[in-house]
Amino acid sequence: MNYLTFALTKGRLAKKTLEMLESLGITCEEMKEKDSRKLIFVNEELKLKFFLAKGPDVPTYVEYGAADIGVVGRDTIVEENRKVHEVLDLGFGKCRMCVCGHEDARELLKHRELIRVATKYPNIAKDYFYNKRHQTVEIIKMNGSIELAPIVGLSEVIVDIVETGSTLRENGLVVLEEVCPLSARMIVNPVSMRMENERVKELIGGLRNVVAEADT
Ligand code: PRP
Repeated sequence: MNYLTFALTKGRLAKKTLEMLESLGITCEEMKEKDSRKLIFVNEELKLKFFLAKGPDVPTYVEYGAADIGVVGRDTIVEENRKVHEVLDLGFGKCRMCVCGHEDARELLKHRELIRVATKYPNIAKDYFYNKRHQTVEIIKMNGSIELAPIVGLSEVIVDIVETGSTLRENGLVVLEEVCPLSARMIVNPVSMRMENERVKELIGGLRNVVAEADT
């Protein structure tokens, strides 16, 4: 039997994913060793491998088949636009992609002014402003703490993730428009989907039940 390899998004998403897998009896004890410097973890019995990666790299590993399966936020899947199958909404990591800014930026949006948009997600922002809103804007790619941009005058608005809304609130910013809802998703390499159909399908089915149980 071949190994099935999982690429998980480092941090909270990986933790939640491992908890979900554990409820299906899929564990990876090796991964729980705190001081380990290991990068890849194996469950020999079930012929599974796991590794942790930065979010934007997860769809890359899956597209090239270096991982058969990935778990990553929908924001990253849409932004990276890799050739992978999105097979399941895992129901956690729920948040929204939004256009945010100071309240007075609402008027600039309304009149489709040529504004600056700071974001970690240039493709999502471009698609939203150009194709959905039909508004020409200047997109500025940033790498974090995006909320700073309208505060220091780098841009009029931002396109960013809003979860609880507290980062916005504490900085005097508001949600101006919602782009799309987000959550953690399972993605599969198209070749693995065919070659390992039985195992992948069984896994999707199992996880789907866990998601359904969590919803009730
Ligand atoms: C994300 C996002 C917002 C914040 C939203 O940033 O970019 O800044 O979380 O969460 P809230 O609505 O619950 O306040 P993250 O902490 O991932 O880091 P970053 O600023 O480096 O992107």
